[in-house]
Amino acid sequence: MNRDFIAKHWYASVYEQFENQTHDVEFLLKVLREQTDGKPQNILEVACGGGRICVPLAQAGHTVTGFDADEQMLLRCYRRMRGLKNIRCYQADAVSEDWGSGFDVVVLAGNILINIQTETAYQDAQRLFIAKAAKALRTGGHLYLDFDLHYDPSAVFHDAGEGSFFEGTDELGTYGKIVFYGSVYNPVTQICAGVNHWELTANNGEKLIIPNRWYKHIPTQQQVYDWLAEAGFSIERTYLNFTDKPLPVPIPKETYRATIWARKD
Ligand SMILES: C[S@@+](CC[C@H](N)C(=O)[O-])C[C@H]1O[C@@H](n2cnc3c(N)ncnc32)[C@H](O)[C@@H]1O
Repeated sequence: MNRDFIAKHWYASVYEQFENQTHDVEFLLKVLREQTDGKPQNILEVACGGGRICVPLAQAGHTVTGFDADEQMLLRCYRRMRGLKNIRCYQADAVSEDWGSGFDVVVLAGNILINIQTETAYQDAQRLFIAKAAKALRTGGHLYLDFDLHYDPSAVFHDAGEGSFFEGTDELGTYGKIVFYGSVYNPVTQICAGVNHWELTANNGEKLIIPNRWYKHIPTQQQVYDWLAEAGFSIERTYLNFTDKPLPVPIPKETYRATIWARKD
């Protein structure tokens, strides 16, 4: 049995079943309408996954390019984009490969800044994503950056709790869930790390345990603002928790999400 295929297919399917919210996509569409006078844009979505964001962008009339490293996610995206002529998607690694150039808008949404898969030092990869976004934009183009931001990351990411999530069955009949045993947050390095495993039963009854270690760098507001300035962006508009309220500096206690609209100078 191809364990890798079974596991990645299952993950892409349950990701689509559970991560299917639309409020962030509607918010992105609203910001685009307001900030670009409703004119169709040439948009790049980096790490487009199964197309939750890039397909509605194309349905709204934008010309869309998306790419993602995960082929099982992309197969779902291809299915969703069938019949749409103004979208193309392909497989690429965002860290090592070129993003193209001349786009009106680069979208780094769906919290990709905190979900980069890479062997590169995490903080360097986050900074690189912002630098690469600048390179992919035409002068005067815009970055839409949407990510989790917390007043006190240790309160969110330092967690001894055990539990499970994404319990479900895919189209191949693989049933499973992700079981976790907590995470630790180091306030000096701003690294959060944890262990979990995927507990799967394939359709022939075979059981698979896939161990998983993960870590992320949790950036501060100031770090992100510095990376943007360094890459040649001017922040034109910020949004707190998917509302029209701007993001104050420093962020208030109730902050959980930051959205930034920044112009490439
Ligand atoms: C949290 S999902 C978001 C997917 C989609 N944008 C959404 O909001 O539904 C993160 C996606 O980023 C992709 N990804 C992570 N690191 C990547 C990398 N280095 N290059 C390309 N894609 C990457 C994963 O394969 C996954 O599909």
